[in-house]
Amino acid sequence: MGLMHKKILLGIGGGIAAYKCADLVRRLKERGAEVRVVMSASATEFITPLTLQAVSGHPVATEMLNPAAEAGMSHIELARWAELFIVAPATANLLARFRAGMADELITTIALATSAPVAMCPAMNQQMYQHAATQDNLTMLQSRGVTLWGPGIGSQACGEIGPGRMLEPLEIAELASRFLQADATPAPLLQGQQLLITAGPTREKIDPVRYISNHSSGKMGFALASAAAAMGARVTLVSGPVNLPTPKGVQRIDVESAQQMLSAVTAHLPKQDIFIGCAAVADYRMAEPADSKIKKNHDTMQLQLVKNPDILATVAAQENRPFTVGFAAETDHLEQYARDKLQRKRIDMIAANDISIPNQGFNAERNALKVFTKDDCHELPSTDKLSLAIQLLQLIANYKK
Ligand code: PMT
Repeated sequence: MGLMHKKILLGIGGGIAAYKCADLVRRLKERGAEVRVVMSASATEFITPLTLQAVSGHPVATEMLNPAAEAGMSHIELARWAELFIVAPATANLLARFRAGMADELITTIALATSAPVAMCPAMNQQMYQHAATQDNLTMLQSRGVTLWGPGIGSQACGEIGPGRMLEPLEIAELASRFLQADATPAPLLQGQQLLITAGPTREKIDPVRYISNHSSGKMGFALASAAAAMGARVTLVSGPVNLPTPKGVQRIDVESAQQMLSAVTAHLPKQDIFIGCAAVADYRMAEPADSKIKKNHDTMQLQLVKNPDILATVAAQENRPFTVGFAAETDHLEQYARDKLQRKRIDMIAANDISIPNQGFNAERNALKVFTKDDCHELPSTDKLSLAIQLLQLIANYKK
């Protein structure tokens, strides 16, 4: 009963997968949710509003301005009522219209008007899904906080095979349960614990105008800090240069370079119970950064770099060290490289992310992790970074006992 008393608004788009929505409503309701349904005009070609009314137990809205519907719940009231707005199937057309902020039909208007989280379940022909326009729309919607569930990969109604199938109703209902549970205040599993977390990139000066850095936005590390504080921990966050607000209840220390990050970490290390190295620390820095701007006098240029200190390995080498968790950002051989880092840096746990997958990892709203300890492996599937942070911290709390 993972959705007990949750108010879920389902927006059904005009795709063949709309026929699965009666089952989706049933699956949500059997988990305890109260479900209301709105449909686009084209969705009613695939499944009748009467069917959805029968399974949801409530009138179904199909038009923006319908005097009969306005007498009941108008679209604005529905937008305010919802605790989660699921759009399924989210067709290519719906995604493009929502990205553009269109408010000329029911589903996109509600998506604009609601303050509830919006989860979209893309469903369309595989070629349409893979088209740059659709991918661009998905990336933009994610960057605005929309959660994407799916699509699945497989044979399609059009006879083609590829990504673009709407997830099955059972999968969507499970994701909704997990999403709303993760959204709730997490259990105070870290009460009384002190956590030190690094986040963001480091910047290594080349000259007064240039530096070496990477694409880390700090979102994953800040999500960990925010979730840890919500779980009762006292959190110190050592952050490289990022553009993010300090999470509530977190002590933040801003640094630029790897050497500065190491100094801040070592200064705050005594008394920490848990250390999480989420920062993307630059592996190298200039042997001798230039004091004045380097001139473009030559067609090629060689920079002499030296290795930066390894902050994670330094923490792990301390006597009475905290429970030490590292991250591994890999494009290939995820498990092999992550396990190698776990051993080589002598840490307790490593969270590996595959940064070759679009829309996750560096500078994305979502991520997925494979978490390794010496003996175990746990898969945390793709979700928003805050939900993922909560799941990782739950694992850490369990292993640290
Ligand atoms: O910041 P976001 O945009 O949200 O992106 C999140 C992320 C992809 C940056 C994050 O999930 C992540 O993977 N962080 C670690 C990135 C990284 O530098 O991985 P690595 O495999 O190069 O390093 C392994 C571990 O050693 C990391 O814990 C790193 O913090 C640590 N390290 C690395 C080098 C160094 N000199 N000192 C270190 O402490």
